Amino acid sequence: MKQVKEATVDLKSGKSPKTTADYAKYFQAPSLKDAKQRGKEEVRVHYDFTIADDMKEIGKGKRYHVRTYGCQMNEHDSETISGILEQMGYASTDNVEDADVVLFNTCAIRENAEDKVFGELGNMKRIKNNNPNLILGVCGCMSQEEKVVSKILKSYQQVDLVFGTHNIHRLPELLREAIYSKEMVIEVWSKEGDIVENMPKIREGNTKAWVNIMYGCDKFCTYCIVPYTRGKERSRRPEDVIAEVRDLARQGFKEIMLLGQNVNAYGKDFEDITYGFGDLLDEIRKIDIPRIRFTTSHPRDFDDHLIEVLSKGGNLVEQIHLPVQSGSSEVLKRMARKYSREHYLELVRKIKAAIPNVSLSTDIIVGFPGETDEQFEDTLSLVEEVRYDFAYTFIYSPREGTPAAGMEDNVPMEVKKERLYRLNEALARIGLEQNKKLEGSVQEVLVEGVSKNNDKVLAGRTRTNKLVHFVGDESIIGQYVHVRIDEAKTWTLHGEIVTKVEV
Ligand code: 5AD
Ligand code: SF4
Repeated sequence: MKQVKEATVDLKSGKSPKTTADYAKYFQAPSLKDAKQRGKEEVRVHYDFTIADDMKEIGKGKRYHVRTYGCQMNEHDSETISGILEQMGYASTDNVEDADVVLFNTCAIRENAEDKVFGELGNMKRIKNNNPNLILGVCGCMSQEEKVVSKILKSYQQVDLVFGTHNIHRLPELLREAIYSKEMVIEVWSKEGDIVENMPKIREGNTKAWVNIMYGCDKFCTYCIVPYTRGKERSRRPEDVIAEVRDLARQGFKEIMLLGQNVNAYGKDFEDITYGFGDLLDEIRKIDIPRIRFTTSHPRDFDDHLIEVLSKGGNLVEQIHLPVQSGSSEVLKRMARKYSREHYLELVRKIKAAIPNVSLSTDIIVGFPGETDEQFEDTLSLVEEVRYDFAYTFIYSPREGTPAAGMEDNVPMEVKKERLYRLNEALARIGLEQNKKLEGSVQEVLVEGVSKNNDKVLAGRTRTNKLVHFVGDESIIGQYVHVRIDEAKTWTLHGEIVTKVEV
């Protein structure tokens, strides 16, 4: 069995410990209990990220493969991981069999997300046997859970490296250790660290870009693991966000997606300035970039100033993802969402009044512990009332260490599945009705590429993020066109180009 090298760095000084005793002193096993603490420590911002000269050579002539699970935040972290690896000389490959470094950037949000990762890690055993020099790493949200790290230690000896969500900037040193030590290297910080700016990123394509505005979440919804895996809320300084968006505009990107686990809490952690998400959007909207979106919103913090800014339109698109989770005030209370059905509906009313043709999407969980038939009917009636264009729907999945995992769950799985089915049916019907309203209209579409299912057809998105298929020449990929919508389906629109748009 491989030995385990548990610690690599003194968290305070950043220096490597020298003896085994030091390792024991500095090592912090991931602990959800520690991760729950919300301290008052000041969050510093570091602008001096560099890769040591000797490490820039380490990947020369070698290849890497990053596989990403989960949300857009994770996708964006993978862009940073790729950026760091490429600065170390590695080149990317789509084929794990060709790779010298394989990293799984994992998601912990539901059990099935974790099962998928363990299945794939199992498959990597054969690949690792064929290529013993391969470095296999696990990072992302699952690494932050102690039970996952124990399971990897016990049953997944093919893994060489485990690191978490707070120390991505340490990848060069960790990789070097994994290569030279031949022991399993584990470095997971339970508590969030500082903000590290200026890490390199390899963005996919040159049309749409993700930009982080904040890290972490302090909401502690009772079902959710994210506040533990991503730490406390830390906002990037406005000038850093604005500089990044400006730079992307200069590079010719056409659409920016601002990212945060709860973007509406942006700025609440600043001690020296009073500056919120509405203020940030009000500045970003002046930058010459055609479309700006954001995700994800929490209804509790969605304030009037933000609605007012969004109503100015322009490059702030009329699309809002507003997770509701349940239509029952009783269930919302047990989820600790800190708003009621009435508050949510009032917010939707205000948003619809201020932003004409706004498109709303949401997240919904069915089968939360103790959810009654009536409470589920409340969710259905809310969906009918709001008329979402789209929704992500989930069966509740208990996450160890969260308060809801300790609640008695008396809803049988069969009932949960039936509720999910009924909810999805309602959403599909409403989605089609919403799309039908667009038949005959002309929409501004950003051409994203060739359709996945038919290479003779192009695919693009409206301002409201609806997928549109139309015939066109591949040379217009990355440009804006006007498309007349001829046929609406449940989740797609079909049409014909009428003109190219100068944006
Ligand atoms: N079980 C099921 N769904 C969950 N989500 C978060 N935690 C859980 C869980 N334990 C859903 C929520 C959230 C989305 C990202 O994932 O709907 O908004
Ligand atoms: Fe999954 Fe949440 Fe982590 Fe994103 S932040 S990868 S959704 S657990």
